[in-house]
Amino acid sequence: MAVKVYVLLVVLMFAGVVLPIAHAQLGSPSLVTVISGTVPCNVGNNISLSTPNNVFPNATVQLRCSGNVVASTTTNSNGGFSIVIPSLLISLEDLINCNIVVTTTLFSCNASLPTDGNLVSPLTFVNTIVGIARLAAVSFTFVRGLIG
Ligand SMILES: *[C@@H]1O[C@H](CO)[C@@H](O)[C@H](O)[C@H]1NC(C)=O
Ligand SMILES: *[C@@H]1O[C@H](CO)[C@@H](O)[C@H](O)[C@H]1NC(C)=O
Ligand SMILES: *[C@@H]1O[C@H](CO)[C@@H](O)[C@H](O)[C@H]1NC(C)=O
Repeated sequence: MAVKVYVLLVVLMFAGVVLPIAHAQLGSPSLVTVISGTVPCNVGNNISLSTPNNVFPNATVQLRCSGNVVASTTTNSNGGFSIVIPSLLISLEDLINCNIVVTTTLFSCNASLPTDGNLVSPLTFVNTIVGIARLAAVSFTFVRGLIG
């Protein structure tokens, strides 16, 4: 019996699914995590995307956790982005404490806007379906003098 359990564990380790099983015990099984959002081209708090064309194309977007850059991408022509990371890299519980930080200054999308500062959004859990956990950055706020 002990041998069978051991063999099963070895098989699972080779399949790389040990941590997702730990997640399953927490009720959130996933193999990959997808973080998506649309970056606004504006200043303010919890900036609304309701105005057409009010988006930030070609912006560098970073996933930062405790000040560390964990992943990075660039927005498309509609200001949209998507970051896919293996769930093994960072747990959902920890991701909730991470932020999306836009490092391209707003001046790049509208010359009337500041040449310093960053747009920052927390992450909101959306759902987990067939091994894909989804989080969204839906509340961008303009922050000056950002470090972390
Ligand atoms: C941001 O605005 C949306 C829509 O106006 C609202 O539903 C949401 O609660 C706000 N979030 C925060 C963090 O203020
Ligand atoms: C975005 O970047 C691409 C490639 O560098 C460039 O062709 C395009 O003009 C840029 N778009 C905007 C809106 O800056
Ligand atoms: C650029 O920003 C200014 C100041 O917020 C705003 O009045 C203007 O409508 C913006 N331009 C575009 C094209 O969005």
